[in-house]
Amino acid sequence: MTSQTTTVARLHGTLPGPRSRELFERWAKAEAQCTGYQARVCWDRAQGVVVTDVDGNTFLDWTSGVLVTNVGHCHPHLVQAVQAACAKLMNNYECLNEPRVNAAEKLVSILPPHLDKCFFLSTGSEATEACVRIMKRKTGKFEIISFHGGFHGRTYAALSSGGLAGPKKGYGPTLPGAIRVPFPYCYRCPFRAEPETCDLLCLDYLDDAVRANSTGSLAGVMVEAYQGSAGFVFAPPGWFARLQEWIRAHGLLFTLDEVQSSFGRTGKLFAMEWENLEPDLVALGKGIGSGIPTSAVAARGQVIDALGEGEMSSTMGGNPVSCAAVVAVVEILESEKLEQNALRVGALMKSRLLEMKEKCPYVGDVRGLGLVMGVELVKDKKTKEPAPDLTRKLIDVAAQNGLLIGSVGVFGSVIRVAPPLVITEAEAHESLDIFEKSLGML
Ligand SMILES: Cc1ncc(COP(=O)(O)O)c(C=O)c1O
Repeated sequence: MTSQTTTVARLHGTLPGPRSRELFERWAKAEAQCTGYQARVCWDRAQGVVVTDVDGNTFLDWTSGVLVTNVGHCHPHLVQAVQAACAKLMNNYECLNEPRVNAAEKLVSILPPHLDKCFFLSTGSEATEACVRIMKRKTGKFEIISFHGGFHGRTYAALSSGGLAGPKKGYGPTLPGAIRVPFPYCYRCPFRAEPETCDLLCLDYLDDAVRANSTGSLAGVMVEAYQGSAGFVFAPPGWFARLQEWIRAHGLLFTLDEVQSSFGRTGKLFAMEWENLEPDLVALGKGIGSGIPTSAVAARGQVIDALGEGEMSSTMGGNPVSCAAVVAVVEILESEKLEQNALRVGALMKSRLLEMKEKCPYVGDVRGLGLVMGVELVKDKKTKEPAPDLTRKLIDVAAQNGLLIGSVGVFGSVIRVAPPLVITEAEAHESLDIFEKSLGML
């Protein structure tokens, strides 16, 4: 069922509007232009799933920033909690503040029981970087196994564990000890196997990689719960459970990077719940503050307690404003049961996207879970030649039609479908109508 009526998105004129254009020009003169490709829209304000630009145009948002605003843009409860915290105390470094205790207790209370401690930092990269440090500190070893296509951030250990060339190009050499192995990108299987019959052959490659590369100093494995930057690549069912068995059999530590997959995004509070995984360390970020910069490491106490006094800290980590945000975000997720909305509206959106795949010659694959889906564009469905140019064009066309989307992917050819988890069915249908119309204009 589709509704063809646009009710939220309203544009007047061609993008960028006059005020946006002026601001883009001023920006280019004052700040280095090194961010990724985005629609020519200068955001002014946003509420829930609706963004208004400085020219008064309104858009539906499939980006959530970059999978950040899980509870919706500027959720009133979050805004109120942050404003109240700001008025009281904004920073005190490592000295204790009550919001930090509240946030730590709240976070531990929603984690699987084996993860009984946490530690607050500021960015996702800081959290993954910390996980690498903890794995090394705990084991006294230095080799980290990670995956082709993985993205764990732009700081040095995070980048070295990453499996995308883009963030590394020009910054070599990367850290010694990074052993990278293929991730099950089944649409483009590196082994040319079929998921129905492969018996997860890519996991056998782990033993080969260790035999070929390890100096005997393996510390642990770091892997995203699904690969975000590589193009929302989800491992087939059972893959993670088998990976976890392998990690345990080798006596290694297991870090799951849930910087973008947690806080309801996949339809569970944490993506690890889908296969009852028990990682030793989990990196959290993005949705944990839903717009307020904060991140955390969740850990087995016996693992993170390897760190002694003064061994981990961060200037902004655990500040009272971010911590108030963490508490408010969890309260909203719990009271509004947003992971259930993610499942319900996500299923509706996926089924319509799959219908579009049948009709549109450029949609090669639609994949995802809850409210995180990737639409991979190709020039030809048989050859699967990636279509990054069409992806860029679609970003612009969709914005002009009132929908904000972004792209990711090993080839830059995957559209991110990741609206705030508060999206209603009506907003989902309206945004899908716009997306379908935009695909037809390629
Ligand atoms: C899975 C994952 N890990 C780590 C990061 C790095 O987070 P940040 O940009 O906050 O440093 C990202 C950011 O996109 C991410 O998607």
